[in-house]
Amino acid sequence: MRRCVCPGSYDPVTNGHVDVIERASRLYDEVVAAILVNPSKNARFSPEARDEMLREATAHLPNVTVDSFSGLLVEYCRAREVDVVVKGLRPGGDFDYELQMAQMNQHLAGVETLFMATDPAYSFISSTLVKEVATYGGDVAALVPKAVLRRLQPGDGTTATGGGAPSSSA
Ligand code: PNS
Repeated sequence: MRRCVCPGSYDPVTNGHVDVIERASRLYDEVVAAILVNPSKNARFSPEARDEMLREATAHLPNVTVDSFSGLLVEYCRAREVDVVVKGLRPGGDFDYELQMAQMNQHLAGVETLFMATDPAYSFISSTLVKEVATYGGDVAALVPKAVLRRLQPGDGTTATGGGAPSSSA
């Protein structure tokens, strides 16, 4: 059974994330999309909301499960018995930091990172930019899954931060 983890903050999941997860799901028997729940990071969406959005956005992929973790990614990989991380790589600023993390994870636990070239159609999308554009009323409909679009509407009650990690499930 070949398994990989696609980790991220997913705050919120974007169409770029979904594209990478979809393509990973064609290469691996099982893909775990793992949400980092970091209480010290000021996330826009609660862990529960991020989990729900990611689940809905990947519901069409039968070999993808959604989970959450806190602490070191390599410890999570060890617990789930996965030794490959797949991450999307956009042009520009991603590379240096991603390489550093990949090397650290390899050093710490022998966990390998495979970088997937982002589809050019999505290379300008980031969760941060999506949130900023949506905050000022810009149209992000083509950039995020429907589950996210609904929650980016002003007045949506599910955007508060806080709460613990949702439980793991398929
Ligand atoms: O979506 P992001 O924010 O780019 O994802 C980054 C993430 C979650 C993959 C990375 O920050 C991570 O793995 N964090 C877990 C803590 C950890 O293992 N830190 C050491 C990395 S070498």
